[in-house]
Amino acid sequence: MHFQALLTAAILAPITGLAAPTNGIPWDKRGENLCNQYKSPPQLCTPDPQVTIAQTAQRAYDFYKSFVVDGDARKMFSLIDNSYIQHHPGYSNGPQAIWSIFCNGKPAGSASSSAWCFDAATNMSYARYSTIDRWRWVDGCVHEHWDQGEKIPTDKCYKLNTTLIS
Ligand SMILES: *[C@@H]1O[C@H](CO)[C@@H](O)[C@H](O)[C@H]1NC(C)=O
Ligand SMILES: *[C@@H]1O[C@H](CO)[C@@H](O)[C@H](O)[C@H]1NC(C)=O
Repeated sequence: MHFQALLTAAILAPITGLAAPTNGIPWDKRGENLCNQYKSPPQLCTPDPQVTIAQTAQRAYDFYKSFVVDGDARKMFSLIDNSYIQHHPGYSNGPQAIWSIFCNGKPAGSASSSAWCFDAATNMSYARYSTIDRWRWVDGCVHEHWDQGEKIPTDKCYKLNTTLIS
């Protein structure tokens, strides 16, 4: 969030009750609310067979961070391809079907109470927060999602080049 907006929110919150829509999450822990601006994801991932395993691992970390820690829907959806296959019951395939859940900038969890893993042998990444998600990466993009009875691996998780972690 921009400083000006943060300042405005901090000043107005006690007066107008503007803090209420954050559901108890401090303003500085929220991403930008994109729901009014975009009715569908502003940018998706273009599959590219040249993307290496190391780059995919870094993208998988960026995906986890944007989704669980930052509430950055723009970044999150820029890593999902247009043919995303959804295994969560009741949701259609395609990133458009889940945009309305994530566009509000509310992170799914926090850095301290979550975990992340990319298994390079299967091209699966995992995030643990209040639940456990699993995604299959194809050509550098999130392509498929499961969240029923998943277990996050504790071994075989890819070690990122930590100088690149932001
Ligand atoms: C994982 O993705 C890489 C490209 O990043 C590919 O070469 C490899 O065959 C894939 N492995 C599996 C098990 O799908
Ligand atoms: C990690 O990334 C930095 C910055 O790009 C690079 O200089 C360094 O060689 C990388 N280290 C490894 C082990 O790949």
